Amino acid sequence: MKFFVDTADTKEIADLAATGLLDGVTTNPSLIHKSGRSFLEVVAEICKIVPGPVSAEVVALDHETMMKEAAVLRKIAGNVAIKVPLTLDGLKTCKKLSDDGVKVNVTLCFSANQALLAAKAGAAFISPFVGRHDDYGLDGMQLIADIRLIYDNYDFDTEILVASVRHPIHVLESARIGADVMTAPPAVIRALFKHPLTDKGIEGFMADWAKTGQSII
Ligand code: G3P
Repeated sequence: MKFFVDTADTKEIADLAATGLLDGVTTNPSLIHKSGRSFLEVVAEICKIVPGPVSAEVVALDHETMMKEAAVLRKIAGNVAIKVPLTLDGLKTCKKLSDDGVKVNVTLCFSANQALLAAKAGAAFISPFVGRHDDYGLDGMQLIADIRLIYDNYDFDTEILVASVRHPIHVLESARIGADVMTAPPAVIRALFKHPLTDKGIEGFMADWAKTGQSII
């Protein structure tokens, strides 16, 4: 499963990229707002840090303006993936851009039928929001399983990009189901490293090492 980080914080991106773990980055208008930085500048900087797809979202709601915004975003770097909302105009834009060889990430997906539409429109990625799905008392991971089944039934190439990931169990379940990608905030990716027995083990080894009075360097 590929790992994307869901943030516009370039320091976090650079730090996580150094582990070799990051296959891409996703941003959205809320994350850009949180960064307090210029959208175009921050996307350009991220594209230099991570060679994989960097999702940059259009903010227009009509197809024509979406295409104009996508043209600006595409000029930033070759690894920009255009993110569009799962609406009729969003999917028109997806079809047009995909036919033109651009990777499109269709976002705000909350049903398997919506995911089917995005695949038929040629999306490179579909982003079902599992956390927000759970917030409504629904089962976000069941949505991923349904999309996996449907995409496999028809051999769609669209990659399932699990989004709105809130905790490590979402990551584990995504991998079990066979999602192609998951995008998570830096805190969730950092939590994947943690295990109390790892910490306890290090503590024990350090205590015993100190008793030897030796040093390696
Ligand atoms: O990038 C979109 C998505 O990951 C948002 O997550 O936590 O705001 O529902 P969240």
